[in-house]
Amino acid sequence: MTGNGIILETRHLRKDFQALRAVDDVSIQVRQGTFHSIIGPNGAGKTTLFNLLSGTLKPSEGEVLFKGQDITRFSDTRRSHLGIGRSFQITNIFPNLTVLENVRIATQSRGHDSLKIWMHYGRYRQYEERAREILAEVGLAGRELQIAGLLPHGDQRKLEIAILMATEPELLLLDEPTAGISREEVPAIMEVIGRIKARSDKTIMLVEHKMDIVMGTSDVITVMHLGNVIAEGTPAEIAGNETVQNAYLGGLYKDAMREALAADGREGE
Ligand SMILES: Nc1ncnc2c1ncn2[C@@H]1O[C@H](COP(=O)(O)OP(=O)(O)OP(=O)(O)O)[C@@H](O)[C@H]1O
Ligand SMILES: [Mg+2]
Repeated sequence: MTGNGIILETRHLRKDFQALRAVDDVSIQVRQGTFHSIIGPNGAGKTTLFNLLSGTLKPSEGEVLFKGQDITRFSDTRRSHLGIGRSFQITNIFPNLTVLENVRIATQSRGHDSLKIWMHYGRYRQYEERAREILAEVGLAGRELQIAGLLPHGDQRKLEIAILMATEPELLLLDEPTAGISREEVPAIMEVIGRIKARSDKTIMLVEHKMDIVMGTSDVITVMHLGNVIAEGTPAEIAGNETVQNAYLGGLYKDAMREALAADGREGE
């Protein structure tokens, strides 16, 4: 940290895909230990922004700073070792391996023993112990020996989070962690994310379309529209922001926001 509590900063970040400006002059600051959500209509540039933060994409212009260090030219691997973790899509798990093996391999990569076949048995046991702890944290205790690819969707999402946690990131980038799972499975995922949030050493950035989740969990919300940041503030500030409501054509999310706030007891804040 640089002493100002900002773990991540972008300066005039821009990403062009040929003629399309997907991310346009985005300058944001994320405070250490906060839950910072990025919202915006489809195509707003949220995933592209995450790709620029994780190093999957290089910006056309602008800088990314992590704990005050300019990491704009760093590869995704280097950023991961620095402590920026991105949730892997389910295609990145080993579907034929057990749940435990998937997480153990990820803990080994943190210990710089990735994919080593020969390893002192004591070290191997350490990694396995750590993997079991993480699985318990995400609510997958008892599922260790199941084949990862055969887990129900909700549990696969938990496994993704476990794999992410195994790399011990300080900053977690979660892009729609509840996408593609049934409504009933959502609270369990949010409980896992809530537990991670409760640990003050973690900073979470979340992209999510479900407004009740965003309003209920975020400390700060940044709103993107057509590549630009159009607003930033607390959930109450964002819900009452007219520019934001207009960005969501036809007030698509307006009612959802009101409902979420009412449910959360924040209305009138
Ligand atoms: N690799 C790419 N090549 C060309 N265009 C791209 C690429 N990735 C994204 N885009 C375009 O950039 C814009 C922003 O896309 P992005 O995926 O960042 O939006 P998003 O906010 O994550 O949307 P959603 O909520 O639907 O996930 C879109 O118009 C998209 O079609
Ligand atoms: Mg996206």
